[in-house]
Amino acid sequence: MGTVPTRILVTGALGQIGTELVESLRDKYGEESVVSTDVRESENCMQLDVMDAKRIEDLVQSKGITDIYHLAALLSATGEKNPDLCWRINVDGLVNVISAAKKYGCRLFSPSSIAVFGPDCPKHAPQVTGLSPATVYGKTKVVGEHLAMTSGIDMRGLRYPGLISWKAPAGGGTTDYAVEIFHAALSDGHYDCFVRENTRLPMMYMDDAIRATLELMEAPFDSLGTARGGYNITGCSFTAGELVDSIRRHIPDFTCSFKPDVRQNYADSWPDSIEDDVARNEWGWMPKFDLDKIVDEMVENLQ
Ligand code: NAD
Ligand code: SER
Repeated sequence: MGTVPTRILVTGALGQIGTELVESLRDKYGEESVVSTDVRESENCMQLDVMDAKRIEDLVQSKGITDIYHLAALLSATGEKNPDLCWRINVDGLVNVISAAKKYGCRLFSPSSIAVFGPDCPKHAPQVTGLSPATVYGKTKVVGEHLAMTSGIDMRGLRYPGLISWKAPAGGGTTDYAVEIFHAALSDGHYDCFVRENTRLPMMYMDDAIRATLELMEAPFDSLGTARGGYNITGCSFTAGELVDSIRRHIPDFTCSFKPDVRQNYADSWPDSIEDDVARNEWGWMPKFDLDKIVDEMVENLQ
Protein backbone atom coordinates (compact mmCIF):
# COMPACT_ATOMS: atom_id res chain seq x y z
CA MET A 1 0.00 0.00 0.00
CA GLY A 2 1.50 3.38 -1.03
CA THR A 3 1.59 6.40 1.28
CA VAL A 4 -0.90 9.19 0.65
CA PRO A 5 0.88 12.15 -0.99
CA THR A 6 1.03 15.27 1.15
CA ARG A 7 -1.52 17.90 0.09
CA ILE A 8 -1.38 21.11 2.06
CA LEU A 9 -3.90 23.86 2.80
CA VAL A 10 -2.50 27.17 4.08
CA THR A 11 -4.92 29.73 5.59
CA GLY A 12 -3.91 33.38 5.99
CA ALA A 13 -1.30 32.71 3.31
CA LEU A 14 -0.82 36.33 2.20
CA GLY A 15 0.52 37.45 5.59
CA GLN A 16 4.04 37.91 6.89
CA ILE A 17 4.61 34.21 7.60
CA GLY A 18 2.42 32.76 4.85
CA THR A 19 4.26 34.63 2.11
CA GLU A 20 7.46 32.72 2.98
CA LEU A 21 5.99 29.47 4.32
CA VAL A 22 4.07 28.81 1.09
CA GLU A 23 7.30 29.24 -0.90
CA SER A 24 9.12 26.77 1.35
CA LEU A 25 6.27 24.24 1.34
CA ARG A 26 6.09 24.42 -2.48
CA ASP A 27 9.87 23.90 -2.70
CA LYS A 28 9.57 20.86 -0.45
CA TYR A 29 6.32 19.22 -1.62
CA GLY A 30 5.85 20.60 -5.14
CA GLU A 31 3.96 23.58 -6.53
CA GLU A 32 0.68 21.70 -7.04
CA SER A 33 0.64 20.20 -3.54
CA VAL A 34 0.06 23.48 -1.72
CA VAL A 35 -3.31 25.26 -1.77
CA SER A 36 -2.74 28.84 -0.67
CA THR A 37 -5.78 30.72 0.73
CA ASP A 38 -6.56 34.03 2.42
CA VAL A 39 -9.60 36.18 3.14
CA ARG A 40 -7.99 38.78 0.85
CA GLU A 41 -8.11 38.11 -2.86
CA SER A 42 -4.89 37.82 -4.81
CA GLU A 43 -3.43 36.08 -7.83
CA ASN A 44 -2.27 32.51 -7.05
CA CYS A 45 -4.22 32.51 -3.77
CA MET A 46 -7.79 31.26 -3.32
CA GLN A 47 -10.22 33.34 -1.33
CA LEU A 48 -11.14 31.59 1.96
CA ASP A 49 -12.56 33.15 5.11
CA VAL A 50 -11.85 30.88 8.08
CA MET A 51 -15.21 31.91 9.54
CA ASP A 52 -16.83 29.88 6.75
CA ALA A 53 -16.76 26.35 8.21
CA LYS A 54 -18.55 24.73 5.30
CA ARG A 55 -16.21 26.14 2.70
CA ILE A 56 -13.17 24.98 4.68
CA GLU A 57 -14.60 21.44 4.76
CA ASP A 58 -15.47 21.52 1.05
CA LEU A 59 -11.96 22.65 0.17
CA VAL A 60 -10.29 20.07 2.41
CA GLN A 61 -12.40 17.31 0.88
CA SER A 62 -12.21 18.39 -2.77
CA LYS A 63 -8.44 18.99 -2.71
CA GLY A 64 -7.63 15.84 -0.74
CA ILE A 65 -5.87 17.87 1.96
CA THR A 66 -3.67 15.93 4.41
CA ASP A 67 -1.94 18.82 6.29
CA ILE A 68 -3.24 22.27 7.25
CA TYR A 69 -1.04 25.25 8.17
CA HIS A 70 -3.49 27.64 9.80
CA LEU A 71 -2.03 31.16 9.78
CA ALA A 72 -5.20 33.27 9.57
CA ALA A 73 -5.45 35.44 12.68
CA LEU A 74 -5.50 38.98 14.02
CA LEU A 75 -2.26 39.92 15.80
CA SER A 76 -1.89 41.69 19.12
CA ALA A 77 -2.16 45.38 18.22
CA THR A 78 -5.02 44.93 15.74
CA GLY A 79 -6.66 42.43 18.07
CA GLU A 80 -6.71 44.81 21.05
CA LYS A 81 -8.42 47.44 18.90
CA ASN A 82 -11.21 44.97 18.13
CA PRO A 83 -11.20 42.23 20.78
CA ASP A 84 -14.52 40.63 19.75
CA LEU A 85 -13.39 40.21 16.17
CA CYS A 86 -10.00 38.94 17.39
CA TRP A 87 -11.73 36.26 19.46
CA ARG A 88 -13.99 35.27 16.58
CA ILE A 89 -11.23 34.95 14.00
CA ASN A 90 -8.59 33.46 16.28
CA VAL A 91 -10.77 31.05 18.28
CA ASP A 92 -13.93 30.41 16.21
CA GLY A 93 -11.84 30.29 13.02
CA LEU A 94 -9.49 27.78 14.62
CA VAL A 95 -12.40 25.66 15.81
CA ASN A 96 -13.70 25.55 12.21
CA VAL A 97 -10.30 24.42 10.96
CA ILE A 98 -9.96 21.78 13.70
CA SER A 99 -13.41 20.46 12.86
CA ALA A 100 -12.45 20.00 9.17
CA ALA A 101 -9.09 18.46 10.16
CA LYS A 102 -10.86 16.01 12.44
CA LYS A 103 -13.45 15.04 9.84
CA TYR A 104 -10.87 14.40 7.10
CA GLY A 105 -7.96 13.12 9.22
CA CYS A 106 -5.58 16.04 8.59
CA ARG A 107 -2.55 17.05 10.61
CA LEU A 108 -2.68 20.68 11.73
CA PHE A 109 -0.06 23.34 12.43
CA SER A 110 -1.43 26.37 14.30
CA PRO A 111 0.98 28.99 15.65
CA SER A 112 1.01 30.16 19.22
CA SER A 113 2.95 33.20 20.43
CA ILE A 114 5.04 34.69 23.22
CA ALA A 115 1.80 36.61 23.92
CA VAL A 116 0.56 33.57 25.92
CA PHE A 117 2.80 34.85 28.73
CA GLY A 118 1.59 37.58 31.06
CA PRO A 119 3.19 39.99 33.54
CA ASP A 120 3.52 37.26 36.20
CA CYS A 121 5.81 35.15 33.98
CA PRO A 122 9.56 35.10 34.80
CA LYS A 123 11.46 37.46 32.48
CA HIS A 124 13.25 34.41 31.04
CA ALA A 125 10.12 32.42 30.18
CA PRO A 126 10.17 28.69 30.91
CA GLN A 127 8.17 26.22 28.80
CA VAL A 128 5.87 25.47 31.72
CA THR A 129 4.60 28.40 33.76
CA GLY A 130 1.28 30.05 34.59
CA LEU A 131 -0.26 31.61 31.48
CA SER A 132 -2.07 34.86 32.33
CA PRO A 133 -1.89 36.95 29.18
CA ALA A 134 -2.76 40.63 29.36
CA THR A 135 -4.16 40.79 25.82
CA VAL A 136 -7.19 39.18 24.18
CA TYR A 137 -4.80 38.03 21.46
CA GLY A 138 -2.73 36.19 24.09
CA LYS A 139 -5.85 34.60 25.52
CA THR A 140 -6.84 33.28 22.08
CA LYS A 141 -3.39 31.69 21.79
CA VAL A 142 -3.75 29.97 25.20
CA VAL A 143 -7.07 28.53 23.99
CA GLY A 144 -5.37 27.36 20.79
CA GLU A 145 -2.65 25.52 22.76
CA HIS A 146 -5.32 23.89 24.91
CA LEU A 147 -7.29 22.77 21.83
CA ALA A 148 -4.12 21.28 20.37
CA MET A 149 -3.92 18.86 23.28
CA THR A 150 -7.65 18.10 23.64
CA SER A 151 -9.08 17.98 20.13
CA GLY A 152 -7.92 14.43 19.42
CA ILE A 153 -5.96 15.27 16.26
CA ASP A 154 -2.26 15.63 15.44
CA MET A 155 -2.08 19.38 16.05
CA ARG A 156 1.21 21.21 16.70
CA GLY A 157 2.26 24.77 17.46
CA LEU A 158 5.18 27.07 18.18
CA ARG A 159 5.24 30.10 20.45
CA TYR A 160 6.78 32.31 17.77
CA PRO A 161 8.70 35.33 19.08
CA GLY A 162 8.45 38.62 17.14
CA LEU A 163 9.29 37.72 13.55
CA ILE A 164 11.59 39.84 11.39
CA SER A 165 11.44 39.54 7.62
CA TRP A 166 11.71 41.56 4.42
CA LYS A 167 9.46 39.79 1.88
CA ALA A 168 6.11 40.87 3.34
CA PRO A 169 5.12 43.58 5.83
CA ALA A 170 4.41 42.70 9.46
CA GLY A 171 0.70 42.30 10.10
CA GLY A 172 -0.44 44.46 13.02
CA GLY A 173 1.58 43.13 15.95
CA THR A 174 3.43 44.76 18.82
CA THR A 175 6.79 43.57 17.48
CA ASP A 176 6.21 45.29 14.11
CA TYR A 177 8.67 48.06 15.10
CA ALA A 178 11.51 45.57 14.58
CA VAL A 179 10.48 45.29 10.91
CA GLU A 180 9.31 48.86 10.21
CA ILE A 181 12.59 50.25 11.53
CA PHE A 182 14.55 48.81 8.59
CA HIS A 183 12.25 50.33 5.96
CA ALA A 184 12.40 53.74 7.71
CA ALA A 185 16.17 53.58 8.19
CA LEU A 186 16.72 52.91 4.50
CA SER A 187 14.13 55.35 3.12
CA ASP A 188 14.23 58.26 5.62
CA GLY A 189 17.27 57.69 7.82
CA HIS A 190 14.94 58.12 10.81
CA TYR A 191 12.34 56.08 12.71
CA ASP A 192 9.83 56.98 15.42
CA CYS A 193 9.78 53.81 17.50
CA PHE A 194 6.59 53.04 19.44
CA VAL A 195 8.33 51.25 22.32
CA ARG A 196 10.97 52.53 24.76
CA GLU A 197 14.67 52.21 23.96
CA ASN A 198 15.20 49.69 26.78
CA THR A 199 12.31 47.40 25.72
CA ARG A 200 13.74 43.91 25.36
CA LEU A 201 11.73 41.23 23.55
CA PRO A 202 12.33 37.77 22.10
CA MET A 203 12.73 37.99 18.31
CA MET A 204 13.50 35.66 15.43
CA TYR A 205 14.49 35.94 11.76
CA MET A 206 11.88 34.49 9.40
CA ASP A 207 14.29 31.89 7.97
CA ASP A 208 14.65 30.41 11.46
CA ALA A 209 10.87 30.52 12.01
CA ILE A 210 10.10 28.73 8.74
CA ARG A 211 12.76 26.09 9.43
CA ALA A 212 11.36 25.57 12.95
CA THR A 213 7.88 25.09 11.48
CA LEU A 214 9.04 22.50 8.96
CA GLU A 215 11.20 20.70 11.53
CA LEU A 216 8.36 20.50 14.04
CA MET A 217 6.01 19.08 11.41
CA GLU A 218 8.64 16.52 10.35
CA ALA A 219 9.15 15.25 13.92
CA PRO A 220 7.55 11.87 14.71
CA PHE A 221 4.36 12.40 16.70
CA ASP A 222 5.58 10.05 19.44
CA SER A 223 8.65 12.21 20.11
CA LEU A 224 6.48 15.19 21.07
CA GLY A 225 5.34 15.68 24.66
CA THR A 226 2.96 17.99 26.45
CA ALA A 227 4.41 21.15 24.83
CA ARG A 228 3.11 20.02 21.42
CA GLY A 229 0.51 22.81 21.23
CA GLY A 230 3.04 25.57 21.77
CA TYR A 231 6.77 25.00 22.00
CA ASN A 232 8.96 27.83 23.28
CA ILE A 233 11.58 28.59 20.62
CA THR A 234 14.39 31.09 20.96
CA GLY A 235 15.88 33.11 18.19
CA CYS A 236 17.57 35.99 19.97
CA SER A 237 16.64 38.76 22.36
CA PHE A 238 17.51 42.46 22.17
CA THR A 239 16.31 45.92 23.15
CA ALA A 240 15.04 48.48 20.65
CA GLY A 241 18.19 50.50 21.43
CA GLU A 242 20.46 47.55 20.63
CA LEU A 243 18.60 47.12 17.33
CA VAL A 244 19.28 50.77 16.46
CA ASP A 245 23.00 50.33 17.30
CA SER A 246 23.23 47.27 15.08
CA ILE A 247 21.54 49.08 12.16
CA ARG A 248 24.04 51.96 12.60
CA ARG A 249 26.84 49.53 11.64
CA HIS A 250 25.37 49.87 8.12
CA ILE A 251 23.77 53.33 8.27
CA PRO A 252 25.92 55.43 10.64
CA ASP A 253 23.67 58.53 10.42
CA PHE A 254 20.46 56.64 11.26
CA THR A 255 18.46 58.34 14.03
CA CYS A 256 15.62 56.94 16.12
CA SER A 257 13.18 58.63 18.51
CA PHE A 258 11.34 56.60 21.11
CA LYS A 259 7.66 57.53 21.46
CA PRO A 260 5.88 54.73 23.31
CA ASP A 261 2.17 54.22 22.57
CA VAL A 262 -0.36 51.66 23.82
CA ARG A 263 1.71 48.83 22.33
CA GLN A 264 4.32 49.51 25.05
CA ASN A 265 1.85 47.96 27.53
CA TYR A 266 1.63 44.74 25.53
CA ALA A 267 5.41 44.59 25.15
CA ASP A 268 5.85 45.15 28.90
CA SER A 269 3.56 42.20 29.63
CA TRP A 270 5.76 39.79 27.61
CA PRO A 271 9.02 38.15 28.71
CA ASP A 272 12.48 39.38 27.71
CA SER A 273 13.72 36.00 26.54
CA ILE A 274 12.63 32.40 26.12
CA GLU A 275 13.86 29.07 27.51
CA ASP A 276 13.58 26.55 24.67
CA ASP A 277 15.20 23.46 26.20
CA VAL A 278 12.12 21.30 25.55
CA ALA A 279 12.09 22.07 21.80
CA ARG A 280 15.85 21.41 21.64
CA ASN A 281 15.51 18.07 23.41
CA GLU A 282 12.37 16.78 21.69
CA TRP A 283 12.94 17.74 18.05
CA GLY A 284 16.41 19.26 17.91
CA TRP A 285 15.56 22.99 17.64
CA MET A 286 18.62 25.23 17.15
CA PRO A 287 18.44 28.88 15.98
CA LYS A 288 20.95 30.23 13.43
CA PHE A 289 20.41 34.01 13.41
CA ASP A 290 21.61 36.43 16.09
CA LEU A 291 20.90 40.18 16.09
CA ASP A 292 23.80 41.31 13.86
CA LYS A 293 23.17 38.50 11.37
CA ILE A 294 19.47 39.44 11.14
CA VAL A 295 20.38 43.10 10.59
CA ASP A 296 22.96 42.23 7.91
CA GLU A 297 20.38 40.13 6.03
CA MET A 298 17.59 42.71 6.36
CA VAL A 299 19.72 45.62 5.15
CA GLU A 300 21.23 43.65 2.29
CA ASN A 301 17.84 42.37 1.04
CA LEU A 302 15.91 45.62 1.47
CA GLN A 303 18.65 47.66 -0.21
P1 NAD B 1 -0.37 38.47 9.26
O1 NAD B 1 -1.31 39.44 9.89
O2 NAD B 1 0.78 38.99 8.50
O3 NAD B 1 -1.20 37.48 8.31
C1 NAD B 1 -2.43 36.94 8.69
C2 NAD B 1 -3.23 36.71 7.43
O4 NAD B 1 -4.52 36.22 7.83
C3 NAD B 1 -3.47 37.98 6.61
O5 NAD B 1 -3.00 37.78 5.29
C4 NAD B 1 -4.97 38.17 6.66
O6 NAD B 1 -5.52 38.67 5.44
C5 NAD B 1 -5.47 36.77 6.95
N1 NAD B 1 -6.78 36.73 7.58
C6 NAD B 1 -7.28 37.57 8.52
N2 NAD B 1 -8.55 37.22 8.80
C7 NAD B 1 -8.83 36.12 8.06
C8 NAD B 1 -9.97 35.30 7.92
N3 NAD B 1 -11.09 35.55 8.58
N4 NAD B 1 -9.89 34.25 7.07
C9 NAD B 1 -8.78 34.00 6.37
N5 NAD B 1 -7.67 34.76 6.44
C10 NAD B 1 -7.70 35.81 7.28
O7 NAD B 1 0.09 37.48 10.40
P2 NAD B 1 1.41 36.56 10.44
O8 NAD B 1 2.48 37.35 11.04
O9 NAD B 1 1.62 35.92 9.13
O10 NAD B 1 0.94 35.50 11.54
C11 NAD B 1 0.45 34.22 11.21
C12 NAD B 1 0.23 33.46 12.50
O11 NAD B 1 1.42 33.45 13.28
C13 NAD B 1 -0.84 34.07 13.41
O12 NAD B 1 -1.51 33.04 14.10
C14 NAD B 1 -0.04 34.87 14.41
O13 NAD B 1 -0.71 35.02 15.62
C15 NAD B 1 1.18 33.98 14.56
N6 NAD B 1 2.35 34.71 15.09
C16 NAD B 1 2.97 35.66 14.34
C17 NAD B 1 4.07 36.34 14.86
C18 NAD B 1 4.79 37.40 14.09
O14 NAD B 1 5.68 38.08 14.66
N7 NAD B 1 4.51 37.58 12.80
C19 NAD B 1 4.51 36.04 16.16
C20 NAD B 1 3.82 35.10 16.91
C21 NAD B 1 2.74 34.41 16.35
N1 SER C 1 4.60 39.38 16.92
C1 SER C 1 3.31 39.13 17.47
C2 SER C 1 2.64 40.37 17.88
O1 SER C 1 3.35 41.32 18.16
C3 SER C 1 3.45 38.24 18.67
O2 SER C 1 2.55 37.22 18.57
O3 SER C 1 1.45 40.42 17.94
